[in-house]
Amino acid sequence: MAGRIPQSFIDDLLARVNVVDIVEARVKLKRSGKNYSGLCPFHKEKSPSFTVNNEKQFYYCFGCGAGGNSLSFLMEHDRLSFPEAVEELAKLAGVEMPKADGPVDHQREQRIKDIYALLEEASAFYQRQLREHSNKEIAVNYLKDRGLTGQFAARFGIGYAPPGWDNLLKKLAKDEATKVRLEQAGMLIKKEETDRYYDRFRERIMFPIRDMRGRVIAFGGRVLGDEKPKYLNSPETDTFHKSRELYGLYEARKFNQTLDRLIIVEGYMDVVGLAQYGIGYAVATLGTATTAQHLERLLKMVPEVIFCFDGDAAGRKAAKRALDTTMPVITDGKQARFLFLPEGEDPDSLVRQEGCEKFEQRLSESLPLSDFFFKTLEDGADMLSLDGRARFSNQALPLIDQMQPGILKQMMQEKISELTGLSLEQLVSVNNLQETTVSHAAPEPDYAYEAANYQDDGYFDQPPDFNSFENSSFSQNSQNRKSKKEFGKGNKKFRPAPPGGSAVHFNPSSTAVSILLHLPSLASQCSNLEILASSDDSAEILLYQLATYLQEHPGVTPGILAVDWQEHEHLKPLIRQLNEIAHQTPIIDSSNTQQVLSDCLNRLQERHLDREILQLKSQGHLSADDKQRLNQLIMQQAGSRLRKTPEK
Ligand code: UTP
Ligand code: MN
Repeated sequence: MAGRIPQSFIDDLLARVNVVDIVEARVKLKRSGKNYSGLCPFHKEKSPSFTVNNEKQFYYCFGCGAGGNSLSFLMEHDRLSFPEAVEELAKLAGVEMPKADGPVDHQREQRIKDIYALLEEASAFYQRQLREHSNKEIAVNYLKDRGLTGQFAARFGIGYAPPGWDNLLKKLAKDEATKVRLEQAGMLIKKEETDRYYDRFRERIMFPIRDMRGRVIAFGGRVLGDEKPKYLNSPETDTFHKSRELYGLYEARKFNQTLDRLIIVEGYMDVVGLAQYGIGYAVATLGTATTAQHLERLLKMVPEVIFCFDGDAAGRKAAKRALDTTMPVITDGKQARFLFLPEGEDPDSLVRQEGCEKFEQRLSESLPLSDFFFKTLEDGADMLSLDGRARFSNQALPLIDQMQPGILKQMMQEKISELTGLSLEQLVSVNNLQETTVSHAAPEPDYAYEAANYQDDGYFDQPPDFNSFENSSFSQNSQNRKSKKEFGKGNKKFRPAPPGGSAVHFNPSSTAVSILLHLPSLASQCSNLEILASSDDSAEILLYQLATYLQEHPGVTPGILAVDWQEHEHLKPLIRQLNEIAHQTPIIDSSNTQQVLSDCLNRLQERHLDREILQLKSQGHLSADDKQRLNQLIMQQAGSRLRKTPEK
């Protein structure tokens, strides 16, 4: 696609249209120096981390990592395709689009344009039938019986496809070409034997499905009685992709000033019924299970999604499936919850019985993802036997492993330790998982145990013979000790961010970076940063640069910082890394953020200690000074570990 529009044309457009104007038309911006800042339109936030740079013509958000130029903004914000965004820019710049040179693409674009127009016409036709058709009473009564008001029927554009094989056909298909288009739009079916077309939707209540911009892209049609199938949906077409679209999303966005959460339900009428009872933030998948694409889309808009399931076996099965889909998608700062309705009820029936308040009460009591996850697994497990617990962790760990690095993941791993009474490294060996299963997010090793081992090794009684380190008792250890070493080895993989690579892993330094991005004022409390300055770990260097910069420039927002760093050759490459960290650990929202930050810094210090010790140990010969230093470091290390020993 991009190849078809000449790059020179795009460059010219970008030069003509100011990104500030584009953004400002959609987001409230405040000027600060050379830049503008505001609340990010791509994720929910309370304090502005979204910056637009006039000079460089880009925007940037540290909360969610969104960033780019006018074109990408239009694509992301207005959900336009690339050519659509170019067209929009061209319109704003008042220039003609270059003539298309590929006839095939041109045909496709024309076809899609035609389809949108026809679907819009079809929707208007169906709505008109609800008011005008001689059988309209039947349809209107059906809707009334279901408790639907005219206001909400209109809000959702609900219509009526009257009985008969060719109502739409006659109304819209003026010529053969239009028939073909209507078939491509999913509205007509061609009978192979006779080559004749007929209406797909007959004698049904019609629910138009709209895309994010409010364009009709498909329909769902419900029978008025008990015939089968109960619902008929448009097939996949150029405009309709079931795995991506959600019924009610356009309406939810349109009729809510702010959206804090979205409910995912099963049916059209659930969405409509809930909206009518004051819960205008439900969406439905379209006869398919929720996909990762659906979820990613929703979680970009709101921090919380709540799945709503029937309380029966099928509902539980669907919930399990939704859980599997959600685990790899969910990130820190985002929440997925699970609501189970009483057997035999769906959201539509329940909200009618109970009303908005009670239903919202249920929503607020719904199970967080982690609770549902452990509940599901524990249900089938015998947590009293070691065997059962091992099997339990065997099932749970690989699933948790799929999660994005972050605090939630870490907490879930810790929870497994808690539930099974096994330390993480024990779990690793019990489960015989690959090294990579446990990331740096894993809880700290059991320091009580480790400190005891140090004592066994005689470190406190007499200085060990470091020159024969490899032969010392240090390296001949219990099974546990060995698995811990393997665990450590696995960790190493996660430590250094590859130069220029994109993988950022959750570890103390990136956690600290993430915290500072969200709460820059905490930088003033970071001390002892110098040890990081000479680190060979890129995340530690980043932390060092970020913290010292914030200390020197109090009050600066991360957005401004990004723009400032653009100016410095040595800092510029770090912006990308900052972005990745911000993206992967978006919001650390807990009351003890300060504690987490200081824990991270302590951990880094310990790590530094470990490294220095290791380095000394690996030296062939140690001077007396070296030995003294080493002893000092080991005492320091053991002391800090003992302090950290959990009191259980
Ligand atoms: P349900 O069978 O639970 O129906 O289907 P419902 O939503 O409660 O419908 P009402 O209240 O009887 O009108 C849930 C969803 O599954 C899809 C539709 O999207 C429907 O809304 N479905 C169901 C179909 O696509 N085809 C069908 O035949 C039935
Ligand atoms: Mn129903």
